[in-house]
Amino acid sequence: MSRVVVTGRIPEAALDKLRASHEVDAWEGAESIGREELLRRVAGADAIVSLLTERVDAELLDAAGPQLKIVSNVAVGYDNINVPECTERHVIATNTPGVLTEATADIAFGLILMATRRLGEGERLIRAGQAWKWGMFFLLGSSLQGKTLGVVGMGGIGQATARRAKAFGMEIVYQSRSEIDPSIAEDLGSRRVELDELLAISDVVSLHCPYGPSTHHLIGAEQLATMKDTAYLVNTARGPIVNEAALALALREGQIAGAGLDVFEQEPKVHPWLLELENVSLVPHLGSATVETRTSMAVLAAENTLAVLGGEQPPTPVN
Ligand code: GLV
Repeated sequence: MSRVVVTGRIPEAALDKLRASHEVDAWEGAESIGREELLRRVAGADAIVSLLTERVDAELLDAAGPQLKIVSNVAVGYDNINVPECTERHVIATNTPGVLTEATADIAFGLILMATRRLGEGERLIRAGQAWKWGMFFLLGSSLQGKTLGVVGMGGIGQATARRAKAFGMEIVYQSRSEIDPSIAEDLGSRRVELDELLAISDVVSLHCPYGPSTHHLIGAEQLATMKDTAYLVNTARGPIVNEAALALALREGQIAGAGLDVFEQEPKVHPWLLELENVSLVPHLGSATVETRTSMAVLAAENTLAVLGGEQPPTPVN
């Protein structure tokens, strides 16, 4: 029987799977586990099931000890894990790709609609008890039909967002490190372009690339300045891909028309300049937040853990 430390609350279905054959020490607190408590609990763990709010670095791996075999992240993004440090210690790291693709694309598209149709502004106006009535020029937004969506990072979530955009009558361009399956690109009627061109021609730019040193502040003042002043930026990937201060300035100056953000540079903090703006929709990292999706993510994380503890290849390793 191995010892599995789970760093936060996860669905019972996943805990049941783990408990069937292992000793499970799961943090049950409503608040995130504190760093000190985490370092203490992981001592002697054979597996760590981690949430994206926990930093898995050399200090944590050393606190766990040399018997640690796997860090199983309950997220597709794994920028919270120092993968080279895991590899150096022969610790397998895994993530949960695939199962949250559609849910995250739904949130991306929700934010596209919120931003372009000014839904947040309308909601705030009613809740503030302000007088309003239907008006020919009241809260006019921007149509999606015939406009161009620029997808930055054309993996599963980027493709799922593009499929939704196609159903809304949008043209698709994308930027991607690697070429995608030509039949998928063709079905979407999409064209691969460089980031510069994508930013210059898109009416909506949606970010779906992983976060790392090469994508830190990928979108900053210089890039925002090349976008159309009628364009919108949506980020459901990771906060630090966008320079939030530069975005707030671009939104304030009318350099772009609006934005929708599900992720933030210093979560859970939101840059105070963004909070003052009407033309940005802000939601609290809800990309994968459905009962079904979170259950599938946690179950996949449990399957990764069980495979490694059983001496097998896990379904979704990242190293
Ligand atoms: C959520 O942000 C994830 O990476 O799964």
